[in-house]
Amino acid sequence: MPDVTLLDIGRTIAVPDGQTILSAALDAGIDYPHGCKSGRCGRCKSRLLGGQVDHLDHTRFALTAEEREAGLILACRAVPVTDAKVAWLGEARTLGRSQAEDLART
Ligand code: FES
Repeated sequence: MPDVTLLDIGRTIAVPDGQTILSAALDAGIDYPHGCKSGRCGRCKSRLLGGQVDHLDHTRFALTAEEREAGLILACRAVPVTDAKVAWLGEARTLGRSQAEDLART
């Protein structure tokens, strides 16, 4: 059962095998930004700053191949396969890579 650290709130949650990061976060009572929960809206877009995830199917609108290459994931479609660190982008999407990396170092 991988542990996932949510850098925005400094909390680590255990994600049951096969469960997505978003699902585990919501089960833990965390107000993780989200919308459709099915890879269509992009509101759960997050930056993966450590670890690996299996990424389930989603629309290109929600996450492009270029964004995936740049280290972004959809929390509603990301099943961690190792311990991981993520920073959600939220609606404003103002958290750039350097800010997220600063969070990862703290
Ligand atoms: S909640 Fe809509 S894409 Fe993840």
